Formats: sequence, C-alpha cells, structure tokens
Amino acid sequence: MCGIVGILKSNSLKNEAIDILKKLEYRGYDSAGISLFEKNRIRTIKSIGKISELEKKSKKFSDKNFTGIIGHTRWATHGIVNRNNAHPFSDENLTLVCNGIIENYLKIQNRYIDIPSHIQSDTEVSFYFLSYLLNKYKNPDEAIKTFLKTIKGNYAFVIFIKKNNSFYLLKNGSPISLSHKNKSFYVCSDSSILSNYHNKIYHLKDGDIVKINNGNIKKLNNNSKISFEDNSVSQNPYDKGKFQHYMLKEIHEQPKVLKDTQLIYGSEFFIDFKAKFENLFNVDKLVLVGCGTAYHACMIGEYYFNKFTNLDVSSELASELRYKNISNNNKTLYIFISQSGETMDTLMALKYIKKYKHRSIIITNSLQSSMVREADVTIPTYAQKEVGVASTKAFTCQILSLANLSLEVGKMNKVISHIDYKKNIKILNLLPVKLKNLIKDFTPIAKYLAKKISLVNSCYFIGRNISYPIALEGSLKLKEISYMHSEGFPGGEMKHGPIALIDKDTMTVCINPNNELYEKSLSNAQEISARNGKTIILTSAKRTKKAGTEMKVPNLPKENFIDTPFIYSIPLQLISYYFALNEGTDIDQPRNLAKSVTVE
Ligand code: AGP
Repeated sequence: MCGIVGILKSNSLKNEAIDILKKLEYRGYDSAGISLFEKNRIRTIKSIGKISELEKKSKKFSDKNFTGIIGHTRWATHGIVNRNNAHPFSDENLTLVCNGIIENYLKIQNRYIDIPSHIQSDTEVSFYFLSYLLNKYKNPDEAIKTFLKTIKGNYAFVIFIKKNNSFYLLKNGSPISLSHKNKSFYVCSDSSILSNYHNKIYHLKDGDIVKINNGNIKKLNNNSKISFEDNSVSQNPYDKGKFQHYMLKEIHEQPKVLKDTQLIYGSEFFIDFKAKFENLFNVDKLVLVGCGTAYHACMIGEYYFNKFTNLDVSSELASELRYKNISNNNKTLYIFISQSGETMDTLMALKYIKKYKHRSIIITNSLQSSMVREADVTIPTYAQKEVGVASTKAFTCQILSLANLSLEVGKMNKVISHIDYKKNIKILNLLPVKLKNLIKDFTPIAKYLAKKISLVNSCYFIGRNISYPIALEGSLKLKEISYMHSEGFPGGEMKHGPIALIDKDTMTVCINPNNELYEKSLSNAQEISARNGKTIILTSAKRTKKAGTEMKVPNLPKENFIDTPFIYSIPLQLISYYFALNEGTDIDQPRNLAKSVTVE
C-alpha cells in the first residue's frame, strides 16, 4: 500500500508534490519522503509520520533549482517504521519509490551479494538490485527491462536515473496514472488527484514500462501508442467546510449523495435495465464480494436479493474467496463492492473468478480504478470522494445501489409485483429527507450515548436478519476510529457463547427495528440486562416493556425493510464519531489504518 507521486517540470514542483502527498495520506502515513532532481545531484529528504513532518523538513528548499521530484507516503509492510525504511531509496545516480510488494525480494537478496543482508524492506532490496543492474548494463533501458523481468508481485514504481536523465514508470497490479501537458508531467497512484493538474490522463497497464526523457514519452515494453483520455476536473473534496472532521462532513453529506444517486438510477442508469442486464442476471448463483465495510454492504445486499429475487445469493470476504475452489460448471455472477476500486484483496478475488470465466459487476465510487478496468460491468455509487478513513457515505451509497439492483432484478424476473416495486422505490426516493431529519434529531442523542459508552470497557452490537450486518458495521466503525474493544454478533447467537463476555462493564447496542423479530431481539437485550450488562436499544417501536438497565433512546423514524440499514447505520456512525471525539483519537486517519488497502 502507499501513495506515490512524481512531477517533471513545474514552477512549484516541491509544493505541489507535498500537496499531492497530503491527499495521498489516506493510503498510509507511517513515513514519507521526496527526492528532488538537481542538475548534478539527487537530494532526498525523509521523515517519520505524516506529511506535515516532511513539509517542515523540506521548507528550506525552494523549487527553483529542481527539474523533477518523486515522493512517497508509506504504510509499512516489510520493515519497521523508521527513517531508513522510508522511500525514496536513492544514491548519486538512482532514486525510486514503490507502491506494492515485491514478493521474491528475499530470493533476489540472497542471489546478489551486492545487496546487504540486513535490509528489511522489499523496496530497498529492489533499489540495490536495480543499482546493480545499472552498473552491469551500459544502457539503463536494458537494466530496467531486466529488473522488470526478475521482480514478482503487485507494484507500481516511479524511478529516476540521473545518468540518462530519464524518468521510468513500471506497473503490475498496483495503479499508477500519468498526465501531461507540453513538457510537464505528473504521475500519481490516485488518478482522481491528477484531475486538478491536467485533464488528459493515461492509466498504465500491467507490464508497462513508460520512459520520459527530455519531454518525450515512450513505452519500452511494446510499440503501442500511449493514448491519453479525458479526465475532467472535480469539486474540491478536501475542503472540510464547517466540520471539524471529514468523517462528520461525510456523515452529513449522506442525504445529498443518496439523493443524487437515486436520481441518477431512476432517471438514466436503470432505464432499459432489462436490455442491459437481463443476460448478466440469467445465472444460477449470485455472489457478493468485498472487504471491511464493503463486505457489510454485501451482507445487506444478500438480504435484499434474498427478499426481492429468487436468486441463490451469498456474500464472501474477498480476502478468503480466492483460496476457495470455485466451480466453473454453474453460471455465477459475482458482484464486487469497493469504495476505492483498488483494495488488493478485492481486486485479486475479481481476477481469480475471471479465470473461471464467471461474469462480474463492480459497484464502486472510483470510476478510474483498477477494478473498473477488470470487471464486465461498472455500477457507480456517486458518493463523491470519501476522505475520512472510516467509510460512511460510500457505505450507504453502496447499499442504495444494491437495493435498486435487487428491486430491478426482482421486477425483471417477476418475483415482486409492479406495485411492490413502485412502493419500495418510493421509500428510497423519500429517504434523503428522512435521513436529513434523522441526522439533526439524533446528533444530541449520539453525544449523550457516547458519554455512556465511555463508562464501559467493551461495547457489543447485536441484531437479527438485516440488522445483523448493521450491527457488524456499527462495531467496526466504533473500533476503527476510537480503538474501543467492540464486537458485533447475531442476536440469536449471544446465548451460544458470547453472552459469557457480559458484565457490568459492557455496553450492548441492540439494533431492533419494529418488525417480526422485535420481541425476540428485545428478549436478547433482556438476557444481557439480567447479567448486569448495560444496553442501548435502537428502535422505532413504541416500547411497552423495558429491559433492566436499558438506556432511554427516543424512537427512530418508522422504517421499512428496504430503508432499515440506512435508518439504523447513520445513528451508529454518529455515536462512534462523538465517542471517538471524546477519546481524542485521530478520527480521519486512525492509527494503523489506511483508506485504501492496496496490499494483500
Ligand atoms: C471502512 O470504514 C474501512 N476503513 C475498511 O473496512 C474498508 O471498507 C475496506 O478496506 C474496503 O475498502 P474499499 O471499499 O475501498 O474496497
């Protein structure tokens, strides 16, 4: 994982590179570094921690004397977090940065005596290996080609070689894009960032070696032309406006982005659904695949497809799917869900099922991502850029896509009537207003509940049926931004083991919509209260019974099956946010995490 940047020819290349690295911090922020190219030397600056540290260290250098720059923000995989393991790795002739993992680095390290044996970082081994090749071959292009033939893994490299004053970009698996105008070039591992600089862009393909020398650009791996596509400028998502954190801003943006998403689906995307998708959904089985929050969206989608269609549907964790044997006898459609479209586990699972010739859809927020290039069909989520590491608006937009998709398939296959279809679409159309009021009304309650949670040591979330994945997501949100110990369980499973965890220092949040399972879930909460566990019951029901140590939470708005995940997830996002705020954690960039996990 990590973020990489490169710039050739700009009036402000250091400041621009630092600015781009700040936007790339979502890919990791263990350490950072830049290499600046002067006429006769390469100058490298590295620091531990966030880009602000690097910015301080690089203040004394003005942009004037430099012709190019490469930079990196690291999420540690091989080798501890220290200055030495920070990228770029450089000497007087060579500097390079890498995003990804070189899987055969130990083999390379053992084979070439010039590579010090104490090195821990796969990229540093790659650096020594390339440096060795540059000494061996007179022509740097030959050294680069041999380097690419030898290394194995998923990676993107940006390399500068002083000897021939050339910039090289290599890609296999990990994303890297290039934009240019005249002799100025920008390279970045997140193509959406490049739209702020140039509107013509090239996404490198696996196996590509792109060389830029003196304003000329060519591919060394084949003679194909580099064709730049349009990359139009987007709004600035990095402006927090009146909000203290991106996460809170993004929670509040949900009514708007859900409205935009629903409008687009209603007006253009799903028109002629039958003509577009009939063939795709003519399958024996449907599998929904994702990681983390996206996996919870998959689980919610499973309940939707189960209710509205007659498809045999299941959800799979992407990180597990590719180690399972899958059959190519039956016709299976795989729907992948990913905010970033770059999560390596999900990308690898997508590539894996393609080997078996199964069809695939990617539901994503990032239309220029690697997964879009791999999948048969792309369904956008229109959540707009999500900056906070904890996913909020992307999650609810994923659920909205799945709700619409399942209704369309159900209607097409005549499993739901036209009246039921219309009724559910109406509920989805009304959702933005309902959620706007919910956010306003629930905010003071979330602040109150956050204080109550600070009195316990662990927090559990329980729910049944579609409330079970909502509980899992509530728990993930709390633990990732506040570091509080938390688990999510299916309500009915508590008595089979997890209830042993309950004592007076635990809080259990019971997700309990007013449906046919309401009484059963309330009993689960009462079983917890009977063991001195504290409980919060989230429900729209007017309660007659009260569980022993239950918190009094005003009623949530009346829900239907299809809008339950939205009405219950947003209060959980708010509770986690205000709890983390009280704890003083780094809410937008929690420890040990990264926004886009591009390693396996
Ligand atoms: C979300 O809050 C998490 N940080 C994380 O679980 C995330 O959802 C997961 O890594 C998948 O990311 P993706 O949607 O970009 O594939």
